Amino acid sequence: MEVVITATPREAGLLVADVLEDYVRAGATLGLATGSSPEPAYEELVRRHGEERLDFGACRAFLLDEYVGITADHPQSYRRTIRWMLADRVGLAVAGPDGTAADLRAEATAYEEKIREAGGIDVQLLGLGTDGHVGFNEPGSSLSSRTRVKTLTEQTLADNSRFFDSETVPHHVLTQGLGTISEARHLVLVATGAGKARALAAAVEGPVSASCPASVLQLHPHVTVVVDESAAMRLEHAGYYRFAHEHKPEWQGY
Ligand code: GLP
Repeated sequence: MEVVITATPREAGLLVADVLEDYVRAGATLGLATGSSPEPAYEELVRRHGEERLDFGACRAFLLDEYVGITADHPQSYRRTIRWMLADRVGLAVAGPDGTAADLRAEATAYEEKIREAGGIDVQLLGLGTDGHVGFNEPGSSLSSRTRVKTLTEQTLADNSRFFDSETVPHHVLTQGLGTISEARHLVLVATGAGKARALAAAVEGPVSASCPASVLQLHPHVTVVVDESAAMRLEHAGYYRFAHEHKPEWQGY
């Protein structure tokens, strides 16, 4: 696992965009996250698309998760969110699980099958919940779980209520499981702000445990964690991560 600490969320976004750009130029299958953390990276990719001919034409993309009971055109659906954040602006087709399917179990299985048929995900972008979730895998999620319905924690409901005006945040979601996510060839987690510091320290330096679902990243052979100073605040080995990055040879890549 490589941990990179940047001065600001914007710098974190630029670094994530650099990592993703190589995959986009190779026509890779992308795993995308919604939420606010990836926004600076998406903004930068949109800019590069417009100004530097970064072409997404050969890429396919899959979302991590979706709210149950929310249609694809609902303003807060993740399928709609990714369209205005990135997909429609760069000409990228993004698939996501359908949280309105009559049979959610069958939908979850079909979604996994779609990812498999696409040859799996080359690079998966991840945000981090304040309770340590990735996708919507809340604490207690099996580290080998597959795409399925989960119930959100009260903490996540409170965190995400900021997006829902007076409407209630749906309590249920369809999310790729931790086992599903772990099959992506490269995981890139981005976390910024002091609110993520505790979850980040648990994910990166705590024990591997279902109590902190993001700690499953420690079992993956290729992980890049990009964080700003505030999110890095509780990392015990921050000094080493900085040292390693300062001395990173050009040829090493991410
Ligand atoms: C949400 C999403 C996650 C996201 C996380 C953090 O609930 N399901 O995919 O990464 O919580 O969100 P944010 O980046 O807005 O802090």
